Amino acid sequence: MMIDWNELRNAAVEAMTMAYAPYSGYPVGAAGLSEDGRIFTGCNVENAAYGVALCAECGMISDLVRSGGGRLVAFTCVNGNGDFTVPCGRCRQLLWEHGGPDMEIEMPAGIMRMSDVLPYGFGPDDLDMVERKNNG
Ligand code: THU
Repeated sequence: MMIDWNELRNAAVEAMTMAYAPYSGYPVGAAGLSEDGRIFTGCNVENAAYGVALCAECGMISDLVRSGGGRLVAFTCVNGNGDFTVPCGRCRQLLWEHGGPDMEIEMPAGIMRMSDVLPYGFGPDDLDMVERKNNG
């Protein structure tokens, strides 16, 4: 499938403009593309209790699941300047669950595979492995 990175990036920038980031002053927008061509977006949502802030990726994943779910094939996120930024560690885990090792992700260094961004990621297969071992 041809990925329109410009369209995805524009969606992330648009989401970023909706961010609620009064504490850090660091708005983030995230956009994901599913294998059937849908685009999902999210922005960061901060809180007076700083530690419970929601990353932009959390909103994007919620958008994906709420609208029926599906497999992500591409992802990008931008900061307040509209420049690519990198997902935090927790969000790499969220992305792994719904995109897996083959998802493409636009990083400041270029387009990479998720398996390069989160090597040896923990996922559903690891849970299955224990179940298989226990059930013979
Ligand atoms: N942030 C994201 O939204 N996604 C990331 O992957 C990195 C960090 C947000 C959280 C917080 O609202 C702000 O950026 C500064 O850390």
